Amino acid sequence: MSVLVDNIGELVTNDDGEGLLGLRRDVAVVIEGERIAWIGPAAQAPAADQRIDAGGNAVLPGFVDSHAHLVFAGDRAAEFGARMAGEPYTGGGIRTTVAATRAATDDELRRNAGRLVAEALRQGTTTIEIKSGYGLNVDDEARSLRIARELSDETTFLGAHVVPAGSDPGEYVDLVRGPMLEACAPYAKWVDVFCDRGAFDEDQTRAILTAGKQKGLSLRVHANQLIEGPGVRLAVELGAASADHCTHLSSADVDALVNSETVATLLPGAEFSTRSPYPDARRLIDAGVKVALATDCNPGSSYTSSMPFCIALAVRDMRMTPAEAVHAATAGGARALRRDDIGRLRVGARADLIVLDAPSHLHLAYRPGVPLIKQVLHSGVPSNH
Ligand code: NIG
Ligand code: FE
Repeated sequence: MSVLVDNIGELVTNDDGEGLLGLRRDVAVVIEGERIAWIGPAAQAPAADQRIDAGGNAVLPGFVDSHAHLVFAGDRAAEFGARMAGEPYTGGGIRTTVAATRAATDDELRRNAGRLVAEALRQGTTTIEIKSGYGLNVDDEARSLRIARELSDETTFLGAHVVPAGSDPGEYVDLVRGPMLEACAPYAKWVDVFCDRGAFDEDQTRAILTAGKQKGLSLRVHANQLIEGPGVRLAVELGAASADHCTHLSSADVDALVNSETVATLLPGAEFSTRSPYPDARRLIDAGVKVALATDCNPGSSYTSSMPFCIALAVRDMRMTPAEAVHAATAGGARALRRDDIGRLRVGARADLIVLDAPSHLHLAYRPGVPLIKQVLHSGVPSNH
């Protein structure tokens, strides 16, 4: 089964073409099965079984959301309301979601996570990472990851989200790096630790990440969200694919990131929803750090599944250019997941494409809050819109 996508106003390839986004015009794309088979001058496009007329609109790679917490029950709207009336965000609300998640059935968790994956897909997200972290005991973490695995290959064991109420921190770290890791590793690709004030310190983070690595998991870290702590430095030292949040950074943190393969994943939805200062994206990009944008979708600090919303925030409030933001939301996310088959449109890549209801990628930030995702192809299959 082949599909020809033509009448493209602007193709964002993140590969060969003009500027950071590898922009191409007057081109068509041919998809064979799940992969891109051909990109070339529209006038020379080969015949295909089906045609999608992009209507002169922009076509982009599907968004790669490399940071989301989707397995949970309940919501924390009241906590959000209190914050908007002046209460600070502490991360302490995580325990509220833990109680609701433990009380939920598998089907309730599956339905809620599935609803969010579908919501993200409608907004152009074709790859979404899903973390555990609201179970915080062996059985509830393992079932969270089993459910996450039904929805994504990019699954992350975050037993070290916070120490659950009533547990001794030292004993909990031993549980996470021992029996909990053992039960969760079969369903996880990644291990993550919330290394921050009120969560896990340097030694605890190192112990858990090292155990995860020994078990064959790759590393990512919730780092420097609330304070200028050791998270980013540890992420780089241990070879993590990504240090996420990066809101409070020292010069040494920035230097460490520059000289590393660790991506700084910025999550502006969290600063929006916690009314906190945004990370300094310009400082990172200008220093040469590789940056990704992701939603951090979770019921506490960032209850959005919308990558277009995050792009608009990054442009308006973090002074990223529209091209930098779109790149960070596609190729950046792919790099943060160490994937080279997504985030770019080139021959052999997975056929994950967005057709915008707009002639250029600029509109994603220029027209914030407007549903501009006209059509999504996921592994070559058009999703219903
Ligand atoms: O990435 N910072 C830690 N974890 C989440 C928040 C989770 C919550 O508040 O429920 C985050 O922002
Ligand atoms: Fe997070």
